[in-house]
Amino acid sequence: MKHYLKPHEWLIVEEGFDAHHHRISESIFSLGNGRMGQRANFEETYSGDSHQGTYVAGIYYPDKTRVGWWKNGYPEYFAKVLNAPDWIGIKIKIGKHEVDLNRCKVTGFKRTLDMKKGILYRSFTATLPDGKKVVVNTQRFCSMADGEIGAIRYSITPVNFSAQATITLPVNADVVNKDSNYDEKFWNEVSQEAKAGIALVTAETKKTFFQVTTAMSYSIETAGKTVKGKVKASKKEKYADNTVTIGLKKGVETVIYKYAAVLSSENHSKKKIQDQAKKKLKNITTKGYEKLANEHISVWSDIWKKCDITIEGDSAAQQGIRFNIFQLMQTYTGDDERLNIGPKGFTGEKYGGSTYWDTEAYCLPFYLGTTNPRVARNLLVYRYKHLPKAIENARKLGFKDGAAFYPFVTMNGEECHNEWEITFEEIHRTSAMAYAMRDYIDYTGDKNYWTEHGLEVLIGIARFWAQRVNWSKDKNQYVILGVTGPNEYENNVNNNWYTNYLGAWTLRFTMQAIDFVKNNSPEKYKSLVAKLRFNENTETEQWKDISAKMYYPQDQTRGVYLQQDGFLDKELIHAKDLKPEDRPLNQKWSWDRILRSCFIKQADVLQCMYLFEDDFTLDQIKRNFDFYEPMTVHESSLSPCVHAILASKLGYNEKAYEMYLRTSRLDLDDYNNDTEDGCHITSMAGTWMSVVKGFGGMRVRDGVLQLSPFIPDQWQSYSFRLEFKNRVLKVIVSKGKTDVLLESGEPLEIVLNEKVVKL
Ligand code: BGC
Repeated sequence: MKHYLKPHEWLIVEEGFDAHHHRISESIFSLGNGRMGQRANFEETYSGDSHQGTYVAGIYYPDKTRVGWWKNGYPEYFAKVLNAPDWIGIKIKIGKHEVDLNRCKVTGFKRTLDMKKGILYRSFTATLPDGKKVVVNTQRFCSMADGEIGAIRYSITPVNFSAQATITLPVNADVVNKDSNYDEKFWNEVSQEAKAGIALVTAETKKTFFQVTTAMSYSIETAGKTVKGKVKASKKEKYADNTVTIGLKKGVETVIYKYAAVLSSENHSKKKIQDQAKKKLKNITTKGYEKLANEHISVWSDIWKKCDITIEGDSAAQQGIRFNIFQLMQTYTGDDERLNIGPKGFTGEKYGGSTYWDTEAYCLPFYLGTTNPRVARNLLVYRYKHLPKAIENARKLGFKDGAAFYPFVTMNGEECHNEWEITFEEIHRTSAMAYAMRDYIDYTGDKNYWTEHGLEVLIGIARFWAQRVNWSKDKNQYVILGVTGPNEYENNVNNNWYTNYLGAWTLRFTMQAIDFVKNNSPEKYKSLVAKLRFNENTETEQWKDISAKMYYPQDQTRGVYLQQDGFLDKELIHAKDLKPEDRPLNQKWSWDRILRSCFIKQADVLQCMYLFEDDFTLDQIKRNFDFYEPMTVHESSLSPCVHAILASKLGYNEKAYEMYLRTSRLDLDDYNNDTEDGCHITSMAGTWMSVVKGFGGMRVRDGVLQLSPFIPDQWQSYSFRLEFKNRVLKVIVSKGKTDVLLESGEPLEIVLNEKVVKL
């Protein structure tokens, strides 16, 4: 764990420059706006260790699979959101030396992320090797008001000299993905252009042929007056810039404003993309930094009005939750149904920026609770559009007749993960799509989603399960063999309880959807039956049989469900008895030792109890929690939040609080020693759930919102807002009291602490 960031309600603050923390800070201080984003790299040259990263949503490259031993059924490629052309550079040379924090003496360094405004600030004093001292103050944002633009205000003031300086303002498409499988560069150049005042590069991805035009313009002011300086425009392959020579005067501030327009062929025709980028650039340069910044800040202000969570009496917890909400909102805005939420968002390259089951299992409730239902619906439609590929994925693995197997990792619907234990075995993910539909319908009441898109998806998934189970003569029940459950520290197990439960539930849920569509839109149902060649009688008979005769491993003596067949053969030890030098297991132990041990990476049996809590008694949940949690090492970021929610339900308040802190400050405190790879964006939605579903006890049952809050001892009060059925509610919980305010919308009945109240 690291504690170098100062707790603050709205700010993330790093004081003093420590190069060892730089990659971690580059992740934490990242910026984005749903369409593009970037790690918090420095504008000026930095020759020290850094991971330069700029990303454009939806622009990916199918990097040819690299595995030690090929297995039939492996996907040909792993899709990667590309490290995209970089526009932030402001390279300053004074005499022979560059401003480079790796080569200068740095004092007074401060990096601040203002989450209220979405602006990244930096200030420092740098002494160059020849003794010249400059004070630098920077600001930067990716506009939430217009996803295609970004801007920088870079101020430099000489402290002890006057001299000529050259300022180079590049756009650079000569960039690489750190995780490239074959050290390949993924961009080809289409064109570059550089003339006084403007530089742009259009680059095209190899194989996928997406084009991105990145254009920059700038203005420079000294003591508040525009200076033109001597300008040299130059270009080379994949690169264009302007170098401006100006005089810096001792004690006088020079401000460089750099504007960027980043347009992709996903939203513009390739023929017009350069012209449109230039037009946009002209408009934003005329508008100027202050106006653009104000427009951006005003979008953030609206976002915070709807989804802020306040915590009084615990600034670390307050900072943690705002950081999580901030990152989620700048990763996915929900206005484009082609986009999704990569586990690292725009903060790093691990997980390839692709879509995981994380979206459905963890992120959806966050967007349901904090934004217009359209956003969550877009996430469902994204998967609906991938249905043909899910059917193809299934076909490649030998399934037939329209069975749909959703991928573990994808950009366009095709599976692109290639570890056999996950690609072939972690099959529970296909039901996450069904569960997300249930979540959406429960929360919004929009059952028509089944009619429009949902049922078609469900029939595909149900067909997959019907073919994936097999009848065990020995058990006289259906079994599911050779799987990996959510707990990836077990592979190729039989009858993972979570997987069996989800499979059987999906079949029942699909039949419920059939009834609805058949009764409410018989015509649509008829056409779907024809389109899918759906034989309702035979297929549903089989589904009923499977769901009625599914085998669920359990231990009657302890009264617990077994994570999988044979779990009790393991040596059952508690995580607290591990030596500190053994943790994290995934970095310290061999894989085979992990597999043989009882240690659990992330909620598995408990994940299911969290998803279907009304199917179990409190005593059942308690027994399973008490049995499994002590063996859980939480080495997946997705683990603590589920435990925080269940612990809250069980009245294990201290445990709930411990788990909350762990999820909310996972990246800020670098708990798992991996924040330098990027932030854990999808688990951040779990942090939100820990407060709202955990401490707030929020549930929706039969269309009714229910709350049963408790307050951790460490807090004086907390509040959260919910967008629910065209209303905005504010819930304020203090010691011994809960207020629920209807901030907008029609009167509403809710259940508060088991009593019906009218708002
Ligand atoms: C977890 C998966 C998750 C992935 C991406 C892994 O560590 O075990 O459940 O989908 O991370 O967040």
